[in-house]
Amino acid sequence: MAIYPTKRLRRLRHNPLIRDMVRETIITKNDLIYPLFVVPGNGIKNPVKSMPGVYQLSIDNLIKECEEVVSLGIPAIILFGIPEHKDEKGSEAYDENGIIQKAVREIKAKIKNLVVITDVCLCEYTSHGHCGLLNGEEILNDETVSLLAKEAISHAEAGADIIAPSDMMDGRVAAIRKSLDYKGFTKIPIMSYAVKYSSGYYGPFRDAADSAPAFGDRRSHQMDIANGDEAIREAESDVEEGADIIMVKPAGPYLDIIRRVKEKFAMPTAAYQVSGEYSMIKAAAQNDWIDGERVMLESLTAIKRAGADMILTYFAKDVAQWINSNN
Ligand code: PBG
Ligand code: ZN
Repeated sequence: MAIYPTKRLRRLRHNPLIRDMVRETIITKNDLIYPLFVVPGNGIKNPVKSMPGVYQLSIDNLIKECEEVVSLGIPAIILFGIPEHKDEKGSEAYDENGIIQKAVREIKAKIKNLVVITDVCLCEYTSHGHCGLLNGEEILNDETVSLLAKEAISHAEAGADIIAPSDMMDGRVAAIRKSLDYKGFTKIPIMSYAVKYSSGYYGPFRDAADSAPAFGDRRSHQMDIANGDEAIREAESDVEEGADIIMVKPAGPYLDIIRRVKEKFAMPTAAYQVSGEYSMIKAAAQNDWIDGERVMLESLTAIKRAGADMILTYFAKDVAQWINSNN
């Protein structure tokens, strides 16, 4: 192996064309999944205060948004619903006329060439904002899993292309797979939020999805931020239970976990650049403290370099626009 002065690493850096030739990681539009929030009503486009550029949309505006997403060349969206009514059991989550079920049916009737992923959890639909059924202050696992399977089936019946359980109950991937198969949806993949940390970075999302817990937190089901080996055990369960794509969430602060999960399981791996990661970059850019576009691209390139095959990001439209005008 050569050493300096024979070896000079700067040789490949001074010509911009050569830099392009040796670049290892490039973000493409196929890497992107765009999260969208749907609310009841008509003509609604509510800005989410803590997430500049993100809106709660009624179905009519959601359709327009999907048209734009497709025309930009983004292949997929993930949908979150804010229901008309919340109750203790999150009934609208698994109601065939719930907000998500209606939205998916409309999208599928009107939009071609878009992969519709639906988030499966109860926290947007429960009056207490928790991800499952409660007994006092305890979140019940197995009773919740049955409802999640019902929710997944109602999404598949509406036309969802991929089901994405985000609840972190034990055994939910197996239960959802079994129910989907029983109902004939053997071809619908599961993208599981396999490794989901109990993170402070979800703050802005809870404004967008109106899903903040009324008391307590999510530490009894989401992972302790300090744990890496546990992430392997979580991912392993979901792979064994039949997940087709596994996700790590958040993304930027957990690049080590993305890398470990990718290397260990060699599965299609998604990473969720969550609301707080987005809002911090937006806020700093609005203050002119950082170059927003540059940091956006840097953050996403780092996530892909770590091993992510796809990235759920609120920047999806901005990135697609950037790619379309710079290539
Ligand atoms: C619902 C869910 C959450 C996110 C995705 N699905 C919130 C939570 O767990 O509190 C967070 C996404 C984000 O912050 O952008 N379980
Ligand atoms: Zn939840």
